[in-house]
Amino acid sequence: MPVITTIEDLRQIYQRRAPRMFYDYCESGSWTEQTFRQNTSDFAKIHLRQRVAVDMSNRTTETEMIGQKVAMPVALAPVGLTGMQHADGEILAAKAAEKFGVPFTLSTMSICSIEDVAAHTTKPFWFQLYVMKDEDFVRRILQRAKDAGCSALVLTLDLQLLGQRHKDLKNGLSAPPKLTIPTMINLATKVQWGLGMLGTKRRFFGNIVGHATGVGDPASLGAWTAEQFDLQLTWAKIEKLRDMWGGKLILKGINDAEDAIMAQKIGAEAIVVSNHGGRQLDGAHSSIRMLPSILDAVGDTTEVHLDSGIRSGQDVLKAVAMGAKSTFIGRSFVYGLGAMGEAGVTKALEIIHAELDKTMALCGERDVKALGRHNLIVPQGFE
Ligand code: FNR
Repeated sequence: MPVITTIEDLRQIYQRRAPRMFYDYCESGSWTEQTFRQNTSDFAKIHLRQRVAVDMSNRTTETEMIGQKVAMPVALAPVGLTGMQHADGEILAAKAAEKFGVPFTLSTMSICSIEDVAAHTTKPFWFQLYVMKDEDFVRRILQRAKDAGCSALVLTLDLQLLGQRHKDLKNGLSAPPKLTIPTMINLATKVQWGLGMLGTKRRFFGNIVGHATGVGDPASLGAWTAEQFDLQLTWAKIEKLRDMWGGKLILKGINDAEDAIMAQKIGAEAIVVSNHGGRQLDGAHSSIRMLPSILDAVGDTTEVHLDSGIRSGQDVLKAVAMGAKSTFIGRSFVYGLGAMGEAGVTKALEIIHAELDKTMALCGERDVKALGRHNLIVPQGFE
């Protein structure tokens, strides 16, 4: 077993273990991947102020997200197809998050269903919704999330149609996946992955198959999803969904100050500044670069969280010091899951936590809530 010390180590093991079509699905951005790359390279442009001769004992990374206590300012972002990266992937990731004390968000496009995850966890998790045209389906899935005790709805607004990812098209990634000869050869060589999949009892796309009208089996899923994403999503519809849900609402996929103001007007508890990890609008700015203008626009009455590009505790620190209440991680936890299942997600969280904690100390801070712009050196023209 190699010594794992970084999120990058987990990525490399994941790449070796997972079938190529699922690895590529995770590790790619849309079109030229410019935004995907800038999400990480922009973090490297922000520097930290090193401070010395300050008491570094008794540190804490604990904070709150939408009124919920968390062990550090990190939540697991909703990630579709997680159950194809590792058998029962959503359940394993949710368990790791629960034990660590950070929120887990289940995607609409998960393999394990809301009920599967609820049956294997003891604390409330968050549910992410893609708005579909079928209002009856939306009403029922929100009811299922409420029945399962989900404590927040994460409504994703930046995917009314799919940003094109060239690798997915070339690999024939679809639901269900098309099995070509190269794909089958690749799947056959991923023995550990395959044995796990054979052992799972989960239904493919468990939130949708068997629950949406006309989707009795996975074969009909592709056509349904292609037709169902609601191109006519408006703020008026978002208000209706807010009322239908009636609980805590997080709007994800905001990357512009004007949209942040709209989110605030409709009374969302929180927004997630995000460009979907560079998977949607290629050419958009990184979310860390957009964060300051969004914070200026909404003040501190709406919680502002951030994702896209977080690969280390140092990145978490930079985002929080820039003013984000917390961060969401997508790929960083998927790498761990694909590498080692639940233990890998725990490892990813441990790595990020240790990096955050020690870096905070070297910046002369003991409490994550005290981080601020005074800890950063931000290059001119960054904002
Ligand atoms: C995503 N993301 C995502 N978002 C969402 O709201 N619903 C979803 O089903 C998915 N699916 C998904 C699959 C994969 C493979 C990835 C990598 C991402 C976006 C995700 O929630 C988050 O915004 C990004 O992953 C953040 O960027 P990083 O942390 O991956 O750089």
